[in-house]
Amino acid sequence: MRHGESPVAPREQWLLDFDWRFAFGNGSDPAKDFGYGFGQGDFSKTGDFKLATAEFNDAGWRALDLPHDWAVELPAVHDDSGDDDTRLTSHGYKPLGRRFPTTSVGWYRRTFELPESDRGRRIWIEFDGAMRDVVLFVNGCFIGQHDDGYTPFRFDLTDFLNYGGKNVIALRVDASFGDGWFYEGAGIYRHVWLTKMDPVHLGRWESVVRSTVEGQAAALALATRIENESGHAVHASLEWSITDASGRVVAHATTPAQAIAPNASADCQATARIDAPKLWSPDEPHLYTALVKVVVDGAVRDAEQFPFGVRTAAFDPERGFFLNGKPLKIQGTCNHQDHAGVGAALPDRLQSFRVEVLQGMGCNAVRTSHNMPTPEWVEACDRMGMMMMCETRHMSSSPSGMQQLDVMVKRYRNSPSIILWSIGNEEWRLQKGALEHQGERIGAAMVARCHELDPTRVVSAAVNGDNEQGVSDALDVIGFNYNLKYPDAFHREHPTRAVYGSETSSAIATRGEYVTDPKKNTVNSYDGVVPWGETPEQWWSFYGTRDWLAGGFAWTGFDYRGEPTPYGWPSVNSQFGIVDLCGFPKDYYYYYKAWWTKAPSLHVFPHWNWAGKEGQEIPVWVYTNLDEVELLLNGKSLGIQKVPRLGHVQWKVTYAPGVIEARGRRDGQVVLVERRETTGTARKLRLAADRSEISADGQDVAMITVDVLDGHGRPVPTANHKLAFRITGAGKLIGVGNGDPNCLESDKEPKRSLFNGLAQLIVQSTDSTGTIHIEALEEGAEQSLTPASVTVTTRKAAARLVVA
Ligand code: GAL
Repeated sequence: MRHGESPVAPREQWLLDFDWRFAFGNGSDPAKDFGYGFGQGDFSKTGDFKLATAEFNDAGWRALDLPHDWAVELPAVHDDSGDDDTRLTSHGYKPLGRRFPTTSVGWYRRTFELPESDRGRRIWIEFDGAMRDVVLFVNGCFIGQHDDGYTPFRFDLTDFLNYGGKNVIALRVDASFGDGWFYEGAGIYRHVWLTKMDPVHLGRWESVVRSTVEGQAAALALATRIENESGHAVHASLEWSITDASGRVVAHATTPAQAIAPNASADCQATARIDAPKLWSPDEPHLYTALVKVVVDGAVRDAEQFPFGVRTAAFDPERGFFLNGKPLKIQGTCNHQDHAGVGAALPDRLQSFRVEVLQGMGCNAVRTSHNMPTPEWVEACDRMGMMMMCETRHMSSSPSGMQQLDVMVKRYRNSPSIILWSIGNEEWRLQKGALEHQGERIGAAMVARCHELDPTRVVSAAVNGDNEQGVSDALDVIGFNYNLKYPDAFHREHPTRAVYGSETSSAIATRGEYVTDPKKNTVNSYDGVVPWGETPEQWWSFYGTRDWLAGGFAWTGFDYRGEPTPYGWPSVNSQFGIVDLCGFPKDYYYYYKAWWTKAPSLHVFPHWNWAGKEGQEIPVWVYTNLDEVELLLNGKSLGIQKVPRLGHVQWKVTYAPGVIEARGRRDGQVVLVERRETTGTARKLRLAADRSEISADGQDVAMITVDVLDGHGRPVPTANHKLAFRITGAGKLIGVGNGDPNCLESDKEPKRSLFNGLAQLIVQSTDSTGTIHIEALEEGAEQSLTPASVTVTTRKAAARLVVA
């Protein structure tokens, strides 16, 4: 359940995601921007802004639901006139920026009724995040602005609303500027809420549960703030109750009634105790729920409910990271926030899907590079047992930098998944050089603020340098980006400072490709890596073998749009991912799986479809955590090799069609066998849904994998057919992808080519229960492939508050 959401009246949090209207404005021509900025009069009179009144007719605007990212809908553009292209490249070639005025500004409108009975409540509109530069108008009135693209923001609309009648919201979102150097999306790409509260209510993100494990119990320090906007003094008390996962109340606390003057607030503390608490960990992510109620004269006036966990986390300079008193290596990945098909506008379920994919290779921690994450990502990590290094976008102690930091720490400080705050990434000028003293001062101010808001967690930054000066001085824990030459020396010089790898690897690979070919913009899947990076084997052999290192975060778990390293156009996304943009594993995934999970694992690659290369040598690699591997070609042994710890084994095999087989042995026994077979011609499409039943709430999604089989039912790993899709029944298609970094096909149209045998569809429910039929067929006249279909059932959704 969301922080701040409460089943207890009178607080209500209504989802405001559905039935918006959208139109492009214009960044340079006011006539095409609905007259915005025509003269200087837009803000001259309160209530005069026509676009946010019922007089304005938006019949021609497009209807859509949030979350929405208009950037992912735009075709990529290429302009190779020097620096211009560099700027476009890093964000993935989408036409955003002041040179693209027709596609950089979007307007959103929404009309809704408010019941007369809401009069007297405080009513807020809350945005979890929008990219970027939002100007908000309600019922003709200018309400406020918000500039950065990652922090949530809200406005009190109480005085501006029409009770018992119609209300109009209009928002201008201007994505001409971005916050980072990677794909960031454009528009209202996170949820929007209408929150209704009593004038006597809890402060925003002021409710905190801090637990200390004391022997067989957990001592809880409970804190919150009561704010009185009622216009007269009140006597308010608090009731806290803590429930376990089964709903049993395990602790309780109250604070005595205290007087709070009008327009004043009171900070309140209490304590409680949980006997024999179940500790949160990646293996067992036990959560508790805190409910806090504000009581005035016997009546509950506000309440908030949020999850938290009981656990200890510590970084030790000699022995690495400890969770609940036990050593645990951070097996982490850095991740940006976009996905195939949907860009930055991820349905909530996709967050869990992505966490599952990462957990499949033994990843136990994510770094939210390089910005405050979406709430549902953090919630998925809390629930599923993924640790998190939570990073703010701007390393700055300026008012806006501190505001971003404050919001992040306050918003997420109850989340057990978060083990570390990060005040930023690779700020060259603050790390060293002319501005290193600025770095020291800025770092110190930010670290102090984190400690003040959250004394339970340590603070770090991702530093690409030797960590000997500048911002590093202030950090509790030292993070190295790349540069394996530095940590040993640093540890010798500073034996009392804990160290981990804040960003490592930057290995690159194109899924299913085994040759680096600059003409095709592909990178081989064996040992691709950028000059400043390390292969998975290189960095993990370093971080995984030194006890004093806490582990680290590989760049990156998922591919992301933008930074199409090592090539530019027509590559539109990065190739750093251990999985591609859809979440389909590259071969590197199995290196991690071998060394980051305990269960026996074995993976042999490449595929064995090399028609035309008969008689030529093909490198065959095996990733496994078993003792030794025997490789066979068409039943003939090519020898047995011992597996080096944290390494791999490889052969050069003279290609002949047929079967390569890897037999993995432990203690002399064959434990796992994997084969790659030369397949026949592709004959038959296949569709598989990650779940056969989803919720009919208009938001839940099924992730559909498309592949193609030969006449013997074997997936064809080299198939690149163009496909078309038909979705009927109680659902709709919201995005398609195939993981090809060089694919310029639409993410939204119901068609896509397979890339090396795979494609992905994201299918969303409507609010009707029933079935969604998904069909795939080959596009074009030939139609040599047998079509496929799959059905997903949509079941009645749990009741929730949705603005009609
Ligand atoms: C790092 C940076 C990342 C990404 C990466 C690519 O220096 O922190 O955001 O650009 O390089 O290797």
